[in-house]
Amino acid sequence: MNGTLKVALVTGANKGIGYEIAKQLGEKGITVLIGARDAARGQEAERSLKDQGIEARFVRLDVTDQPSIDEAYHYIADKFGKLDILVNNAGIFLEEPLPSRNDVGTMQQVFDTNLFGVFRVTKAMLPLIRLSEQGRIVNASSSLGSLTLMGDPNFELAPFLVLGYNTSKTAVNALTRFFANELMDTPIKVNAADPGYCATEMNGFTGYRAPQQGARAAVWLATLPADGPTGGFYNEEGPLPW
Ligand SMILES: NC(=O)c1ccc[n+]([C@@H]2O[C@H](COP(=O)([O-])OP(=O)(O)OC[C@H]3O[C@@H](n4cnc5c(N)ncnc54)[C@H](OP(=O)(O)O)[C@@H]3O)[C@@H](O)[C@H]2O)c1
Repeated sequence: MNGTLKVALVTGANKGIGYEIAKQLGEKGITVLIGARDAARGQEAERSLKDQGIEARFVRLDVTDQPSIDEAYHYIADKFGKLDILVNNAGIFLEEPLPSRNDVGTMQQVFDTNLFGVFRVTKAMLPLIRLSEQGRIVNASSSLGSLTLMGDPNFELAPFLVLGYNTSKTAVNALTRFFANELMDTPIKVNAADPGYCATEMNGFTGYRAPQQGARAAVWLATLPADGPTGGFYNEEGPLPW
């Protein structure tokens, strides 16, 4: 296997910000594995990226389904023998009532994808990331998960009182720090990326940023140099408050 070949896995890469992250990593000459839970949608994204000259391969992966994660692990181990970049991008947003009217089932559903999904995939792929000379893990977070900003009535997204989604991203931030701490003595860097409010299916295309812009923070963190930061929470412009 070519020692200089870089391989990235992006979960939920068949559309939206994940697709753009895969595209931008591919444009840097990185082989991108298009993690998607639906084969037809994943293959379509693979085709579209290949048509643009990108070395893309669809890998079936549902972040709520451990056997599919294990299968993806074995595929990557057999084909590449390592994983340089993991972008935990897959996420869901459910309409939620005010916190006092919310229900535990909705929160569990959101956490299963947005938090436990990140945990499952990170844990499964870590042995392969340890085999990379410069492993990078990027977790899709959101300014909606910032404890500081959610207490600020002037925060532009303050009206989004979405308990399950927002707290799932707060927990993703904490998980990011935990893995960064554990991996502090290794070359692996673990950071959380906020894409900003982007027009994707998740919000009915109401965001004012393009997914192409939203992808930039994750791509930057996925390709950090050896002296780059770890255990941080960033958007494209710099650090965000926890
Ligand atoms: N858009 C924003 O303004 C915004 C802002 C802050 C953070 N984010 C975060 O950015 C990430 C990407 O969001 P987006 O806006 O690009 O949303 P999107 O267009 O709805 O895309 C979400 C992606 O995640 C996939 N996905 C959902 N559940 C999955 C599962 N169980 N297993 C595997 N893949 C799954 C979806 O696959 P299917 O096509 O099969 O559904 C899709 O590929 C999310 O983590 C989101 O929370 C978005």
